[in-house]
Amino acid sequence: DLIPGSRTRRFSVSSRCTTVMPAWVIDTYGNNDVLRFTKNASFPVINYPNEVIVKVFAAGLNPLDVSMRGGHGAATLSMKRDPLNIKQTGSEFPLVLGRDVSGVIMECGLDVKYFRERDEVWAAIPPWKQGSLAEFVVLSGNEVSHKPKSLSHTEAAAIPFVAMTAWSALVNTGGLSKDNCAKKRILILGGSGGVGTFSIQMLKAWGAHVTVTCSQNAEQFLRGLGADHVVDYTAGPVEEPLSALEKFDLILDNVGGDTERWALNLLKPWSGAKYVTLVTPFLQNTDRLGIADGMMQTAATVATKALKHLVKGVHYRWGLFAPSGPALDEVREMVDAGQIRPVVEETFSFSQVPQAFEKMEKGHARGKTVVQIKDQY
Ligand SMILES: NC(=O)c1ccc[n+]([C@@H]2O[C@H](COP(=O)([O-])OP(=O)(O)OC[C@H]3O[C@@H](n4cnc5c(N)ncnc54)[C@H](OP(=O)(O)O)[C@@H]3O)[C@@H](O)[C@H]2O)c1
Repeated sequence: DLIPGSRTRRFSVSSRCTTVMPAWVIDTYGNNDVLRFTKNASFPVINYPNEVIVKVFAAGLNPLDVSMRGGHGAATLSMKRDPLNIKQTGSEFPLVLGRDVSGVIMECGLDVKYFRERDEVWAAIPPWKQGSLAEFVVLSGNEVSHKPKSLSHTEAAAIPFVAMTAWSALVNTGGLSKDNCAKKRILILGGSGGVGTFSIQMLKAWGAHVTVTCSQNAEQFLRGLGADHVVDYTAGPVEEPLSALEKFDLILDNVGGDTERWALNLLKPWSGAKYVTLVTPFLQNTDRLGIADGMMQTAATVATKALKHLVKGVHYRWGLFAPSGPALDEVREMVDAGQIRPVVEETFSFSQVPQAFEKMEKGHARGKTVVQIKDQY
């Protein structure tokens, strides 16, 4: 896209020649009061040849943003940002939150082959990187994917982070794929939030039989997304109706708490059945005990639990978000084929970011919270 005979790119952005940009940042961990709007956040720079700068049109929020605002995972994420521990405590500030982005490529590093300036893209942003509540974000090219053509940016920003969490849990850890799901019985504990609503649709597209738990008022909504069987967890101990059902090949746990006490008994024993939980104490351990002891505690916990359940013939696993452009490419195809639709619960403007966080904190999600950014300045 170079204008012939010149080195000027035909791409206009609001502050192309400046070194600052508008963003919501935090300068310390805390409650909603720590969110601060600034027009002077540092403009992202390409440090590695495989990186791209994306102009953000819409950002998605996740429960992780709310907990990161409060300092959850600070120790581990600081280590990931600064493995040699060269920088001082607090060097992550000002920190930009926001884990989903849909937007347009503004600049590519020299080794980037798959994208060009002005391509429309979407991505899930790893928690150790600066987020999408800003005019621009820098990402590695292999974390980014071309956005589905059938979605607006606002709709697209509802998918990547929950999709990559569900993909990591169900595909990488759970071993599911579009070719081996037919007739498998899957149970999703907590079906009505971001991860649940995405997972139901992907598993139904792959031919699985999907049972979900949710509160009663979400039943019709989840049936509309394709859920075959819905169990209301507010009507009494949910393990009772669930244990009356045929046993499951895989359980995805989005709820945690006491679910581990009973959920593994719902799996088919000695058949490779897996329980994958997304609610893990990994970041809590490292926050509480420090990196070394926290990691040891984490390894000991997961190994003990895996062994305890293995002797009963079922597999216990932790699911962890993993960014992947190629996996997002596969999700894009499913979206453009009409198999997966975005579930946007509420959309906020860029000036309403604190309200968006407040809403997230109330819980009871019915899909995703998205912030529209592009049209705000
Ligand atoms: N390990 C990782 O890398 C990773 C990555 C992403 C997310 N996560 C975790 O995965 C979980 C799900 O994420 P999300 O984005 O889908 O969260 P979300 O959008 O906030 O949804 C959570 C849903 O669970 C429902 N719920 C609450 N208690 C329940 C119960 N006892 N039984 C059934 N449903 C219940 C809530 O609705 P009601 O309260 O109305 O029922 C809500 O719809 C969160 O705990 C999140 O922290 C982990």
